[in-house]
Order: sequence, then C-alpha cells, then structure tokens
Amino acid sequence: MKDFLKNTLLLNGHLKKDVNTAIELLKNYEIVALPTETVYGLAGNGLSEIAIKKIFAAKNRPLNNPIILHVKDIKDAFKIYGDLNLIEENRIKKLAKNFWPGPLTIIAKKSSMVPVLATGGLNTVAVRVPNSKITLNILSKLDFPLAMPSANLSSRPSPTSLQHVLLTLNGLIGAVLDGGYSQVGIESTVVNVMSTPVSILRPGMVSLLEIKDILKEEVLNDFILKKESIPKSPGQAYLHYSPKVKSISLIDEKDAKKFWSMNNSMILTLSQEQNLKALYGQRSKNLITYVLPDKAKDYAKELYNAFYACEKNPKNPLIIINPPANDLSWQGVMDRIKKAANIY
Ligand code: TXA
Ligand code: MG
Repeated sequence: MKDFLKNTLLLNGHLKKDVNTAIELLKNYEIVALPTETVYGLAGNGLSEIAIKKIFAAKNRPLNNPIILHVKDIKDAFKIYGDLNLIEENRIKKLAKNFWPGPLTIIAKKSSMVPVLATGGLNTVAVRVPNSKITLNILSKLDFPLAMPSANLSSRPSPTSLQHVLLTLNGLIGAVLDGGYSQVGIESTVVNVMSTPVSILRPGMVSLLEIKDILKEEVLNDFILKKESIPKSPGQAYLHYSPKVKSISLIDEKDAKKFWSMNNSMILTLSQEQNLKALYGQRSKNLITYVLPDKAKDYAKELYNAFYACEKNPKNPLIIINPPANDLSWQGVMDRIKKAANIY
C-alpha cells in the first residue's frame, strides 16, 4: 500500500480505461483527485468513514472543517438531505433548477446516512452537483456521493490543473484524473437555506444578486468574520488559499509607485499594468509580474494559477493590486485575495 501511494497515478479523464481505474479506486475506499469546473476536488466515498478519514489525513485538514458531498442530480441530493420543511425544500428546488450542475453548494439538514465525520460534527450537510462531464459520468457509475474538498494541502491555494494537484499532494493520494483546466477557477458559492434570510457562507462566482433573483426573497452575506465570532462555515476560520511566499499585501493602484521597482512579485490586471507601465516604465524582467484579465469571471479563472506562479519566487513579497472594479461580481475573488493576504 505504501509503495502504491509513493507514486500518485496519473490518469487521463478522456480515456475510458483510466476513468474506470478511478471508479474502481473510489469503490475500494481510495481517494482520487477529480476535475470539476470550479477547482479540482479530492474525492472519496462520502458515506464511508474509512475514505473520509483518508481525505482529512492527506490534506492535513482540521477535523471540524466539514466537506461538501457531490452528487449527480437533485434526486440524489434529496437522498442525503434529512427532514426539510417546505420552505427549505422549495429553496433547494429553485436553486438547483437554475444553478446545478454548477458552482453553487447548498447547505441544509443532513440525513442520518451521512457520517458526522463528513460534516465536522454539524447536523447539516453541504451538497453540490459539479458541472464536469468527466466527474458527472463517474458519479453516475457510483451508488454513493463523493466527498470532495479542494485537492490541495490545507491552507494552500486550490488547484485548477493537474499540475497544481501534484504540487501539494503528489505521493499522498492514490491517483489524479486529468480533465484540463478548471473553467470557473475559484471554489463554489456556499449558501445556507436553513436560515431566514438565506445566507451566503462563502462567496463565489454565483453572486448574491443571482441567488436573490431566483429565490425572490432576501439573501444576506454572512462570510465576513469578526475576530471573536464563531464561524458558521468552519472553513472560513483558517488561513486559506495562500501561496507560499514571504508576505502578501493588497494595495491600491495609486500606491503602486514604490513597489513597481522593488524586489517583489506582483499580481495586477491588464489595464492596471498598462497604466503603471506608462507612468513608471517596464518592470524588471527578473521579477514575476502576473497580469490578469480585467473581468471578474476571467480573473477568477486564472487567480490560483497566478498564486502558484508567484511561489516560484518564494523569497519575494507578493504585492496584489486591488482590482479596479469592485461590484458584486468581484465578491468571490476579493474574498480569496483577502483570505490569502490574511486581511479579514
Ligand atoms: O467548488 C468547490 O466547492 C470545491 C469543489 C471540489 O467542489 N470544493 C471545495 O471544498 O471548495 P472545500 O472543502 O475546500 O470547502 C468547503 C467549504 C468549507 O469552507 C467548509 O467549511 C464549508 O464549505 N462547509 C461544508 N459543509 C458545511 C456545513 N455543513 N456547514 C457550513 N459550512 C460547510
Ligand atoms: Mg479548500
């Protein structure tokens, strides 16, 4: 077993025989990294304590941080939710109809089938239908949901490619199934439908406005932690999404002058780079300057790739220039940046 784990198997998500290998491993309580449209997930049988324990161990994840269960459709979701009242049930149906498969995770009461190990001791369960053909096909061949946290060591940025998964988990997991780059790029929006008003526990690329529009009722953000408060979503309590670099600072474009010529890595948008280059000239080619698109959706897709790229120069501080726009569509991205910089 140990020898097997020394080498994480690299599997191709477009080859039937490789997909079958992944399915066999999952049926045998092994853990496999799978592609999803948000980020790669570390999958295991979500109803098996044996498999779930392996996930926590490989990621070095605190045991009180619950894991999202992934299913192929709303019918399977209702099998792992427990007794719901009519209001909760209707909210789930409306959200699922509009956003599943997709980057929205819905929290409601759990069924007794779901091990408390998966939910960090909570009596609720987080459920999502991922929008990945490869992973949906795998789910359709299994008679259990897949527990899938992001496929990275705890506290590191989530992986949006096979290479990112290997950077932190090579040798610690059975296999990784390649499905190309994740198209959304940051983790799903997490919404709790048991509270009134409905609350967002982690922002993502499905925005508060979109959720409000569908539910036709009030929706609140509930993810900004006050220092002394107990987080409703345990994952929000930990240092997160952080690249391994000397330090991370978030600054405004107008304050970029002194950092422009200093020894640091920098993440900024295309329009910001053009502005700053016009003012202060080209930045040294020896420094990492990672230029991201100006639209939130495109920025999100590349953010973690930028984080991992900056790790190539770990001794340099990382300066992130505040994106120019800051409307609701940026909420997920800003949350990840602030968590990485430890600003909340
Ligand atoms: O896009 C995603 O959501 C990815 C892909 C793989 O699906 N998964 C992911 O999982 O980001 P993870 O474990 O890295 O983040 C799950 C978040 C954590 O912040 C956790 O605390 C929260 O969801 N969560 C899970 N179950 C919960 C529950 N019952 N109550 C409150 N928060 C919960
Ligand atoms: Mg994670």
